[in-house]
Amino acid sequence: MSSADSSAPSALDDLERLLIDGKAAFESAADADALEKARVTFLGLKQGRIKTAQEVLKTLPGPDRKAYGQRFNAVKTALEEACELARLRIESGQASQAVASIDLTVPGAAPRFGRRHPLTQTAEELIDIFGRMGFSLARGPEIEDTFHNFVALNIPEHHPAREPLDNFYVTPGTLLRSQTSTVQIRVMKKCQPPVRVVALGRVYRPDAVDATHSFMFHQIEGLYVDRNVTMANLKSTLRQFAKSYLGQDVTVRFRPSFFPFTEPSVEVDMQWDASGRWVEMGGAGMVDPNVLKAVGFDPEIYSGFAFGLGIERLCMRRHGIDDIRPFYQNDYRFLNQF
Ligand code: DAH
Repeated sequence: MSSADSSAPSALDDLERLLIDGKAAFESAADADALEKARVTFLGLKQGRIKTAQEVLKTLPGPDRKAYGQRFNAVKTALEEACELARLRIESGQASQAVASIDLTVPGAAPRFGRRHPLTQTAEELIDIFGRMGFSLARGPEIEDTFHNFVALNIPEHHPAREPLDNFYVTPGTLLRSQTSTVQIRVMKKCQPPVRVVALGRVYRPDAVDATHSFMFHQIEGLYVDRNVTMANLKSTLRQFAKSYLGQDVTVRFRPSFFPFTEPSVEVDMQWDASGRWVEMGGAGMVDPNVLKAVGFDPEIYSGFAFGLGIERLCMRRHGIDDIRPFYQNDYRFLNQF
């Protein structure tokens, strides 16, 4: 009885010692290797000190066994927790060390920059070129009334250009503008000569979509009204513009044509490529006296020229693109090239 009395306290003391030593070892482990060594020493299932302590249990007499068993379980759990804590501490230390060791001088992966749509780039360049020639920028709405789209442009009622099948009417008196010439009227109603503006934006026509047609495309409109403006001014302005945008070697030709709002009128062609093919760039002419009258300018005093060019065509000629559709399809592989 006395020997059992004495062995139980010393066995319990050993458990406390084991707890203190084990905790100290886990807390002082500086890296993963040291921690693993400590784990094997204290918690190892084959030769760890916890295993030895467990074997002590069997040697104890019944009455002491319960107390020892309870304490043993508590010590084992405490050591496992200390070991886990140490593992977390070491791992997070490694992570913060890894952050600290990033080499800030190594070139990074370049971010992918967005770019402006080719038509936007073209529009900006056109505004710039005409700006240098003295034209300022004007704007007008895309939903227009029939007065600006037709009446004031000398396109009378029952004119075929007003056909519902050729326009996107919104209501009987309004439509998606079919031409940027509408802006000529808006500008002249607000300003007195000299007027020298370009306007550019979307126009809409119910055309079937193919390589050269779209129900929506972009135009740049020009208008110059002053005393003594002549056809020679118009031709030299458009030639100079074409050389600036398409290159000095571009050839431009003027063909007699008809538009209700100009007299005389021309169509303007550009030579497309080395094969000598001509492609229409747009229409132009001397502002019709009826249009000047409609906005209150005296045609006896003032004259002017106007032109309307297709922006897609100019951009296509510049970049050697032969299909209009990719402009509107937002395919990154196409857009990425500009
Ligand atoms: N508005 C015409 C069209 O869309 C183009 C045009 C022709 C504009 C002659 C003009 C011009 O300013 O004078 O077909």
